[in-house]
Amino acid sequence: MAVQVVRLAVTAADLEAAYRIRHVVFVDEQGVPVELERDDRDPTADHLLALEDDVPVGAGRLVIEDPGFEGLALDLGPLGHLGRLAVLTSARGSGLGAALVHAIEHRAVSRGLRAVYLGAQTPVVPFYERLGYVAFGAEFDDAGLQHRHMWRELDFVHR
Ligand SMILES: CC(C)(COP(=O)(O)OP(=O)(O)OC[C@H]1O[C@@H](n2cnc3c(N)ncnc32)[C@H](O)[C@@H]1OP(=O)(O)O)[C@@H](O)C(=O)NCCC(=O)NCCS
Repeated sequence: MAVQVVRLAVTAADLEAAYRIRHVVFVDEQGVPVELERDDRDPTADHLLALEDDVPVGAGRLVIEDPGFEGLALDLGPLGHLGRLAVLTSARGSGLGAALVHAIEHRAVSRGLRAVYLGAQTPVVPFYERLGYVAFGAEFDDAGLQHRHMWRELDFVHR
């Protein structure tokens, strides 16, 4: 059985691997314009990498938003923003997407955050619902794909 690990991307090689996975999934597979896929949040984000038998196969990132982001309650304080979640097609369905979400949530807790926001592609909303996220607001377009706002509190995460 393959050994799965999810960890913080720390080296330049880790970051390159995370960006390459995102490119394959979002640009090549989903047709997101390359100039939108990488953005000005990347240099300061926390990037998580999923590996199978030491081979990078998944990625995601955490950025921090101001209180009240996307209309969420101000008293939640600064919000974690989970994004760019991607697992290569060959590695899907074996739990790495969920493991990346959990790793990002733990990272958010360790940074003192109480809640996570994400913009979910509409077909992926059920995936996040299974992980405790709740959709709110109207559907919106981002990079040509329909999305829903989703969020959850982090009170369930062991600190
Ligand atoms: C969404 C994505 C990250 C899921 O990764 P994954 O490694 O296949 O997910 P997991 O294996 O951890 O799945 C966890 C659970 O969610 C379910 N699930 C996965 N994708 C789902 C979907 N699109 N809709 C509903 N349920 C889904 C799985 O069946 C699994 O259920 P189980 O716990 O009963 O076995 C992956 O499909 C992907 O990279 N998709 C393309 C990029 C994308 O859409 N990213 C999200 C942008 S918002």
